[in-house]
Amino acid sequence: MTSRNWHTRFGFYFLAVGSAFGLGNLWRFPYVVGENGGGAFVLLYIFLALTLGMPLLIGELMLGRFTRQSVMMAAKKISVNSGKKFKLLSAMPVVMSLVVLSYYSVISGWVLHFILQFSLSLFGSSQIGSGSMMSLLKNGGLQFGLASVHLLITLIVVVKGIQDGLEKWIGWMMPFFAFLVVILIWRSTSLSTTTEVMRFLFYPDFSKLTLSSLNHAIGHVFFTLSVGFGTMVTFGSYIRDDQHLPTVGLRVAFFDTIVSFGGLFIVFPLVFKASNQVITDPALMFDVLPQFFNEMNGGLLFGLAFFVCLYMAALNASIGLLETIVSNIVDTFKGMSRSRAGWMSGLTALFLTLLPALSGSFFSETRLGQKGLIELIDSLLINGFLPLVALGLSFIFFKGLSLKEKERLFIDKEKFVSYSMFPQWIFAVQWFAPVVIILGWILHLFGLLTGHV
Ligand code: PFF
Repeated sequence: MTSRNWHTRFGFYFLAVGSAFGLGNLWRFPYVVGENGGGAFVLLYIFLALTLGMPLLIGELMLGRFTRQSVMMAAKKISVNSGKKFKLLSAMPVVMSLVVLSYYSVISGWVLHFILQFSLSLFGSSQIGSGSMMSLLKNGGLQFGLASVHLLITLIVVVKGIQDGLEKWIGWMMPFFAFLVVILIWRSTSLSTTTEVMRFLFYPDFSKLTLSSLNHAIGHVFFTLSVGFGTMVTFGSYIRDDQHLPTVGLRVAFFDTIVSFGGLFIVFPLVFKASNQVITDPALMFDVLPQFFNEMNGGLLFGLAFFVCLYMAALNASIGLLETIVSNIVDTFKGMSRSRAGWMSGLTALFLTLLPALSGSFFSETRLGQKGLIELIDSLLINGFLPLVALGLSFIFFKGLSLKEKERLFIDKEKFVSYSMFPQWIFAVQWFAPVVIILGWILHLFGLLTGHV
């Protein structure tokens, strides 16, 4: 466990909201919405964020708060109390964090690339060409190099234990980022394409949903709320006794969703302007935004500021992932130093980045239908494994804590709403989550087998 101890409510929110907010909101959400046909998927997403993501998020915080441990030790501790064994189930979120960190590093490397590009354009003579993203995707060595730089920065922060200072600093930057995002929304929605975009995003055409849409929405809800990684268990272990867990869960989900909508309003008007059809691949945001900055008055400086802030959010999320891995290793293998655990996990993640980084070059022939390797990795991790790992984690806290303990941690005597919500929360974790996750999986599998995805 780290030495971090958040005594203030403010500090805790920095951690939890900071971990939820990241590339998932501005980069991943728009392309997943594009891939799944717009409005109907957006509705499905909101519904699941409230009924599935938020309840499991509260459960993970509760597990950390109850045990004051990171996920693997937390599971061990409640195994002793409840007589049930959760060893394998509790290791899965840590493995998930490691693999996701490697692929997240490649995307963070893309952000670094644009910081460099904008700096060069601003202070040098080069221009950001429209094919900048294309050429980056084809350059596996550069992507691997940038991902390594990102991992190294993350590693130094975690090993040196300087995340407290950095996170606070990032926290102060976030209002500035929010300001940039609002300006971008305003600029982007004043384009002539806004009506079309509003129709696409808010007119629910259910015929556009596919057999995979439910599974895609579940995967993204977990990814964006950082559920299923054990990170929220670690954060829950820092939370003060007088904080009300359901309120924390609600706030995290609320802020995260607002930012995700910001992402949609920024990206889609530009996409519709750039081409008549909706582009649905992971390069979406990186294709359209730099071009827009390029054409905007003062856009180079604005673009640089935007990508620097986005990078800080990506770094914060990566720190959360690496911190989860390191704290679990150190807790499990007593005597191992944080720096050894950090270097071991950092190097393993670096090795794993090779696959996504070389997706557009060395592995460019490795495709399944329309999807290249990086999309396949994304889909396998976030849509395939993450829902199951999150379900396993929910099983741990549901079975490991008695009803009385759950009730004590959930209900705040002063808040009437927490009395009335407790049965709903139990229902969501006990019945709704397993049924909807498994249904999503089966439909997706059926779609894959019959070619209807
Ligand atoms: N929630 C982050 C995002 O939306 O970008 C991704 C993430 C960060 C997942 C940290 C898990 C985590 F521990």
